[in-house]
Amino acid sequence: MLLRRCLIQRRLVSHVTTPIFYPNAKPHLGHLYSSLICDVFHRWKTLQGEENLFTTGTDEHGLKIQLASERNGFQNPKQFVDKLYDDFITLDKAFNVNFTRFIRTTDTDHINNVRKLWNLCDKNGFIYQGEHKGWYSISDETFYPESKVIEDPVNTGKYLNTETNNEVVYHSEKNHFFKLSHFNDQLIDYIESNPQFIYPEVKRVQILNELRNNRLQDLSISRPSFRLKWGIDVPGDPSQKMYVWFDALCNYLTSIGGIDAIMNNEPHTKLLHTRKEIQSPRDWWSNTTHVIGKDIIRFHTIYWPSFLMAAGLPLPRQVVVHSHWICNGMKMSKSLGNVVDPLLMKKHYGEDPMRWFLLENSQLEEDGDFQESKLFSLTEMFASKWGNLVNRCCGPKFNLQRAVQFYSDGRNPLLVNDDNLQAEVNNLVKKLSNIPISMDKKMNNFQTASALRDVWSIINDTNAFMQNAEPWTKGPAEQDAIIFLCMETSRILSILCQPIIPDLAAKLLDRIDVEKDNRTTDFSRIGADTTYGVGSNVKGRTVPIKRVTKRT
Ligand code: MSP
Repeated sequence: MLLRRCLIQRRLVSHVTTPIFYPNAKPHLGHLYSSLICDVFHRWKTLQGEENLFTTGTDEHGLKIQLASERNGFQNPKQFVDKLYDDFITLDKAFNVNFTRFIRTTDTDHINNVRKLWNLCDKNGFIYQGEHKGWYSISDETFYPESKVIEDPVNTGKYLNTETNNEVVYHSEKNHFFKLSHFNDQLIDYIESNPQFIYPEVKRVQILNELRNNRLQDLSISRPSFRLKWGIDVPGDPSQKMYVWFDALCNYLTSIGGIDAIMNNEPHTKLLHTRKEIQSPRDWWSNTTHVIGKDIIRFHTIYWPSFLMAAGLPLPRQVVVHSHWICNGMKMSKSLGNVVDPLLMKKHYGEDPMRWFLLENSQLEEDGDFQESKLFSLTEMFASKWGNLVNRCCGPKFNLQRAVQFYSDGRNPLLVNDDNLQAEVNNLVKKLSNIPISMDKKMNNFQTASALRDVWSIINDTNAFMQNAEPWTKGPAEQDAIIFLCMETSRILSILCQPIIPDLAAKLLDRIDVEKDNRTTDFSRIGADTTYGVGSNVKGRTVPIKRVTKRT
C-alpha cells in the first residue's frame, strides 16, 4: 500500500521549461508563444491535481548581449539586462504567465551551477584545449561547419550559414573544446530507444538523420575574454569565458534546484521561489519537458544531452519543438513593419482572447499566421456564441437554480418531448462526457489547436440546440432540461478552459455562481455540481464577455 502510494506520488510531478530569452530587445510574439505553451501546460497539470514546476527566464550573457548593450549606450551590460528583464516580467504579468521560477543567468546560484557542470565534464575527461578555426556567426554566437556555409546569393561578398542565414566570418583562436564527437552513437542509441525524447516525430527523424549523416565534430565551448567580456570565466582560466550556450542550457538544472540536488536527490526548498519542498529532485528532472522553437533544436537535442551525459547526469524526459509565428503570410521583421506587439494586442482585445488565439491557430509542425482580423473574429465568437448562450440561459424567463436542483443528481433523466431534439440532447451528453479525457490527452501532447476546436464544436452544437429547442415555448420540466444541459456545457467547458483563458473562464463560472471549490476537473462531469445557479437569473447581473470594436 505504502509502495503504491509512493509510486503514485512519484508519477505526479513534472517540470516544464521555456527557453530562456535573450534580453537584447523588447520581447515579441514568439517569446509570448513559448511562454503560453508552457503556462497552459503548467495550469493544465495543476488542474489535474499534479504538482508541476514551470520555469522561464532570461539568457543574459554573451556577445549578442554585450554588443546590444554597447549599441544602446550602456557602460555595464548588467544595467542593460536589468532594464530588459523588466520588460519580460511585464509581458508575463500582462498575459497571466504563472511561472514558478524566473531564472536569470546572472543569478549567483546559476553561475555556481554552470561552474559545477563545467568541472564535472572536465573531471570526466570531456574538455580539452585546442585551436579553433572555422566559420563563426556573431549573431548566433556559434561556429558552423564548412558544409553549412555558402556565399551570399545577393553578391555582397559575405558568407552566410544555411541554418539561420546569418553572416559568418572565418576565424581562428585558442579555445577549450568539448568532446562532442564522443557522443554521436550514444545519442543515436538514446533517441532510438527513448522515442518520446524529441517530439513531434518529424523532428526526431530530422535529428536522427543529422546524427547518422553528418558525424558530430568536437565543440568549442569557450571564447577569449578579450572578445567576449560579458560571460562566466572558465574555471581555472580567466583568459577564457564560457560559450553562452553551455551557460544558458544549464539554467534548466539550476531552476529545479541545482546539480547537487539532482545528484544527491535530497529534499530541499532553498533554490525555488515557490516555498514548495522538492521531495525528490530527480523525479522532477526525469519528468522535465523543454519547450523550444525549431531554430534551437540542435542545442537542445544534441549539445544539451551530451553535456549531461558527460557530467554523469540524467537526461530530461522530453524536448518539444514548436514552429514559428509569421504575420499575414510573411516573416515578421522590423523593416517590413509587421512585427506584432503583444502588449498592444492585449490592450485592445484583452489577454485571454490573445492566449486562445495563439493556441488555437498554431500547431507544433506548422508555422502559425498571425492575422489581426482573425483575432477580432475570435472576440466576436466569444461574445456571440459563448457569452450570449450564458446570457440567454440566465435571463429572467428561466430558472437555472431550479433546473440544476432537479437534474443534477441524475435521478431525473434529461428528456425532451421530441425525437430530433432528444437526439441532439444525446449527442451533447456524449460529447460532454468525452471531452475531459480527450482534452487531457491533447493537452498533454501539446495539441491545443485540436482541443480548442473540440470546444467550439460543443459550443456550436449547444447554441443550435438552444435555437431548435426554443425553451421559452416549453413548460417548466422541459424548459429546465434544456437550460440545464446548455449551462452544463458552459460550466464544464469553462472548467476545462481555465488553463487557456483563466480570467474569462472565471467570469463565465462566476456568472452562473459556481463555487470556487467546484472548479476542479472532478466537477467536469454532467451533474457533478449540484449547487450552482443560485441567483443567476436575477435581473441586472453583468455580462461575462463584452464585445470589443475593430481596431483601426
Ligand atoms: N537564448 C536562447 C535560448 C536559450 S535556452 C537554453 C534563444 N533566445 S531567443 O530569445 O532568441 O528565442 C527564444 C525562443 O523564442 C526560441 O524558442 C525561439 O524559437 C522563439 N521564437 C523566436 N521567434 C519566434 C517566432 N516568430 N515565433 C515563435 N517562436 C519564436 O534562442
